[in-house]
Amino acid sequence: MTRPTASMSQETQAVHAGREVLHEQGIHAMPIDLSSTYPLHNLEEGGQSLEAMAMGGLPMGSPVYSRLYNPTVARYEEALAQLEGAEECVAFSSGMAAVTASLMAAKTRGSHIVAVRPIYGGTDHLLASGMLGLEVTWAEADGIAAAMRPDTAMVIVETPANPTLALLDLEDVVRQAGKVPVLVDNTFATPILQNPIKQGVTLVLHSATKFLGGHGDVLAGLVATNKDWATELRKVRVITGNVLHPLAAYLLHRGLPTLPLRVRAQQEGAKVLAERLAKHPAITAVHFPGLPGQDPKGLLGRQMKGPGSLIAFELVGGFEAASTVMAEVKLMTPAVSLGSVDTLIQHPAALTHRVVNAEAREHSGVSQSLMRLSVGLEGPEDLWADLEQALVKAMARTAVHV
Ligand SMILES: Cc1ncc(COP(=O)(O)O)c(C=O)c1O
Repeated sequence: MTRPTASMSQETQAVHAGREVLHEQGIHAMPIDLSSTYPLHNLEEGGQSLEAMAMGGLPMGSPVYSRLYNPTVARYEEALAQLEGAEECVAFSSGMAAVTASLMAAKTRGSHIVAVRPIYGGTDHLLASGMLGLEVTWAEADGIAAAMRPDTAMVIVETPANPTLALLDLEDVVRQAGKVPVLVDNTFATPILQNPIKQGVTLVLHSATKFLGGHGDVLAGLVATNKDWATELRKVRVITGNVLHPLAAYLLHRGLPTLPLRVRAQQEGAKVLAERLAKHPAITAVHFPGLPGQDPKGLLGRQMKGPGSLIAFELVGGFEAASTVMAEVKLMTPAVSLGSVDTLIQHPAALTHRVVNAEAREHSGVSQSLMRLSVGLEGPEDLWADLEQALVKAMARTAVHV
């Protein structure tokens, strides 16, 4: 069986990556290895394998115990490493588990982190909590270099950022960070639209709960990176037990072949909705990288292959109008999360970014008027009809006449 190569299309890689070994085993569909433990008739070899994995390495023969290694998870990791153009990939039980493990691995190198807001509310909360004993400097995008210290262990950014869709020039971030590794949360872009390793980023993180899962039924996190960091991350994973369950890995791998199709189709729907929102009198601003004037650095085409399918927009009627939209949508689901085949809409200031320092939240553009829309695979006309009727009700209720 031919192993998909980097020169093959993303579609081919998404269908075949991580599966070549199945042909050697004479099977077609992916098996799910649910073993929590593995027989060890050779004690010496079993012990050596355990020791290798405890230090973040791969098994030397037996996987020994499923917290150390699982073949179903490993096949999915291999597939994602390939799609991101990374040497390796390490999977975790959730996106936040992946963020936590990355920070714990960074802590062995220094106790200072530089981060740029806005960033997912949970990541912000973790960094601001001080729980991991890390000091954080929140920098503006052009102030990263000035925020660096001798003990800075990592620079953390998101692009497009959750929830404002603000874009960062990753080559510039990497340049400002100098020798310090940059971690980028690539959840919004997916490996289909952006591969930050190409811009010199060291760690590419995904909440696989979102587009990679794609069906709203899996929690998972991933970090695609080089061999050294993958070894560190696996070591943290073995020690802390933040593993991905093999059933979740199976679902993620099963959904991978349709990822390129889903991402592109959802993006087409988002383009339609973003253009209509931009013309609607109930809306004061639309944030979508594909709209004219929203990509001043020319990152689309250079860093990203497309704008994606997340849209943020601000309502004339502020919080009250947003809560009416949440109550009135009928086809869209008013819920946190994103990247699913169905459309989700939410209010970041009240939900996903609720626990972020209020002043910092406003400063980074997460206002009470802002809603975030994750466009699914439904027909754009049906989505627009639903959103428009909710917007009309929101305007009527907040006495803003359209
Ligand atoms: C951009 C981003 N990163 C990380 C996370 C955390 O992922 P999880 O919910 O899988 O822990 C989320 C969750 O919404 C997210 O949107």
